[in-house]
Amino acid sequence: MVTTIFTVRKAVKEDLRCMIDLYLKGYNDLESYSYRSRRDVKAYLRWLYSRDREGLLLAIMNNEIVGFIASDANWVSIHGRVGAIHELVVHPRHRRGGIGKELVVRAIKRFEEKGLKRVELWVGLGNSAVKFYEKLGFIREDTKGIWLRMSLKIGGKVAMQLTKKWISCK
Ligand SMILES: CC(C)(COP(=O)(O)OP(=O)(O)OC[C@H]1O[C@@H](n2cnc3c(N)ncnc32)[C@H](O)[C@@H]1OP(=O)(O)O)[C@@H](O)C(=O)NCCC(=O)NCCS
Repeated sequence: MVTTIFTVRKAVKEDLRCMIDLYLKGYNDLESYSYRSRRDVKAYLRWLYSRDREGLLLAIMNNEIVGFIASDANWVSIHGRVGAIHELVVHPRHRRGGIGKELVVRAIKRFEEKGLKRVELWVGLGNSAVKFYEKLGFIREDTKGIWLRMSLKIGGKVAMQLTKKWISCK
């Protein structure tokens, strides 16, 4: 894997417009797992922003938003309070350069700082992102229709290994 140079910053409200295009491009070939109209995507991004502003992080390259993660430290699942990753998108042109992993690691670090013990997310069963998450150490949990719940224990050996190797790109 060739490491890509990028920076990460928190999103502000003005970024949401650019994130619509990125989301639509990122999910272009994954229609069954995504919103397709700009209107729906806009509403979804607003919801993500309202859930946990501190957890909406952008990857920036040459002044362009090339990826984002929506992480939520206030989520309650059947397992109690957990850190949730609601969304993660990297621009197709910039994939396999470590951006997705860096964003996930940053989300986990923040959850850890907040004393959370578990990260959860839902991903489409047929989405190859399942393999991406497995590579990071997430495990498959239950399914609901076309969705698979995956989780990672924070503070566990796998998460420790993941965050230990973390190098800030700022
Ligand atoms: C999933 C996604 C965010 C990955 O982003 P990325 O920046 O390409 O991922 P990284 O480069 O950080 O990859 C980290 C590791 O996972 C591997 N990986 C990434 N995508 C993979 C895939 N689709 N299948 C298998 N392995 C994958 C990489 O090869 C890398 O492995 P390495 O560390 O051994 O080299 C990106 O493909 C994407 O935006 N997909 C569309 C949106 C989506 O499905 N989001 C998830 C919703 S829950």
